[in-house]
Amino acid sequence: MDNSHDVGLTTTQSTYIEKAQSKGQLYIQQPYELYSEGNQRTWQRLYANLLPKWKKYANAKFLTGVENLMLKPDSIPKLSEINQFLSPLSGFEAKAVSGYVPAYLFFECLRNRSFPTTITIRGGESLDYLPEPDIFHDIAGHVPMHTDRKFSDVLVRFGEVAQLAALRARAMTQSESEGIAMVENNIKAMARFFWFTIEFGLMKQGNDLKVYGSGLLSSSGEIKNAIESPHVQRHDLQLEWVVNQHFEIDRYQPLLFVVDSFDHLFQLVDDLQKHLQDGKLDNVAPGEPLVNEKDLGSFLNAEIDP
Ligand SMILES: [Fe+2]
Repeated sequence: MDNSHDVGLTTTQSTYIEKAQSKGQLYIQQPYELYSEGNQRTWQRLYANLLPKWKKYANAKFLTGVENLMLKPDSIPKLSEINQFLSPLSGFEAKAVSGYVPAYLFFECLRNRSFPTTITIRGGESLDYLPEPDIFHDIAGHVPMHTDRKFSDVLVRFGEVAQLAALRARAMTQSESEGIAMVENNIKAMARFFWFTIEFGLMKQGNDLKVYGSGLLSSSGEIKNAIESPHVQRHDLQLEWVVNQHFEIDRYQPLLFVVDSFDHLFQLVDDLQKHLQDGKLDNVAPGEPLVNEKDLGSFLNAEIDP
């Protein structure tokens, strides 16, 4: 039986995505007509679950972003429409991709104010959490934050740090194995910092703690847990700690880090760059996340644009 219509653009089940991947196409279109009714219902259920939680737990800039993007509760967004609202605010755009984006390319996109965006949506049976990104995570979890100028500058700054890491590996290492070890550590440090801020960050807002990390903003269970659970450790972000702190992606996070403001976060990414330049990210604590061949290759063989 042909069930391609029912499956539509469901994560890990879409033939459209499989075809793009088999042709090696990373940047793709969003074939909107392929979303099934089931896909649209999944969006509706996720949005209905999250909206009251955003109002309670999300930081004010995120809520403004949701309004500015005119996200709709009843239909999966069209990237072209999102970009019409987004680009004038921060210069950012959401760019459809067929799957995993190697680390250097991902950071390079950020540096150029474009955000690699998954267009598939999770299956209806796994509403609360899935390890892969989907359009709900990327558009409803990440992109509202990109409407804020200061936050968007933080992402660009990440891209600049990655570029510096690639340049440094080229300039400083004597042998190939030395280059690989150094870049592997740099990527691990950057991935950890990104995880504990952009994906799972908390921020002070008056006397409260609010969520700005997209992994939390797109999970109806974990967003509440992050703020209310007595079993979550919440600490002021300390750079030296975060770059050495491993994490696991398939469970609620037991440890979260708090920043004061987006100015503070920007300053921290500046500090990350200084640490990189001083060699402090060349030998970080081992453990998750693992850095794969594609990530390494993307840094070591990067075509570095000025
Ligand atoms: Fe994400």
